[in-house]
Amino acid sequence: MNANKLRIKIRPMLKSDINDVVAVEEESYGKHHWSRESFFNELSNDLAHYFCAINEEGKLIGYIGTWQIIEEAHITNISVKPDFRRNKIGEALLHVAIENCYKNGIKYITLEVRVSNEKAINLYSKYGFKSLGTRKEYYQDNNEDALIMWTENIFYDKFKTLYNENIEKLKKVISIDE
Ligand SMILES: CC(C)(COP(=O)(O)OP(=O)(O)OC[C@H]1O[C@@H](n2cnc3c(N)ncnc32)[C@H](O)[C@@H]1OP(=O)(O)O)[C@@H](O)C(=O)NCCC(=O)NCCS
Repeated sequence: MNANKLRIKIRPMLKSDINDVVAVEEESYGKHHWSRESFFNELSNDLAHYFCAINEEGKLIGYIGTWQIIEEAHITNISVKPDFRRNKIGEALLHVAIENCYKNGIKYITLEVRVSNEKAINLYSKYGFKSLGTRKEYYQDNNEDALIMWTENIFYDKFKTLYNENIEKLKKVISIDE
């Protein structure tokens, strides 16, 4: 076993996590972050599936959320605490969210991302999400366009082959307890 391998736990988000989640939100999005109330509403919604990443010191260092409706999931939010970025935690969160989609029979995953958000676009592209257009001036704070990204059917071989290759590499550098 690699002694330096980062170890995290990813588990469903609880209402008691919201203060820590909002602290990461603020660091990630500044004054345009989601409010505590938004997260309370999300966690009270049966369509919403939220997970958080906890490090070995018990600190909440990231989270991801999806809405799942019939056979589609929409990634609503993903964020990693700035000090912990570029350690594959974003990928680990995306992995757990995708596994949750498989478990629930979701076929397609979509999201909106700011056209300038190269890091997130790279992350989604790495997992086979493709851009299928933009929503003009979608973000009210600066009128920025959103790129709309979709997977193909996640049960198809093409998606799964790339996904499995990525997860094999991911698990060599990070240990994910669920
Ligand atoms: C996007 C975000 C979640 C990525 O989290 P992370 O833990 O740093 O990402 P990972 O270490 O798992 O990186 C996975 C992939 O994402 C992409 N990526 C992440 N950071 C990147 C960077 N600084 N530059 C370029 N690509 C980057 C790469 O494709 C990377 O794969 P690679 O390591 O093989 O190059 C993180 O940057 C974040 O929280 N940003 C602020 C919130 C946000 O913008 N969320 C997206 C809203 S749609």
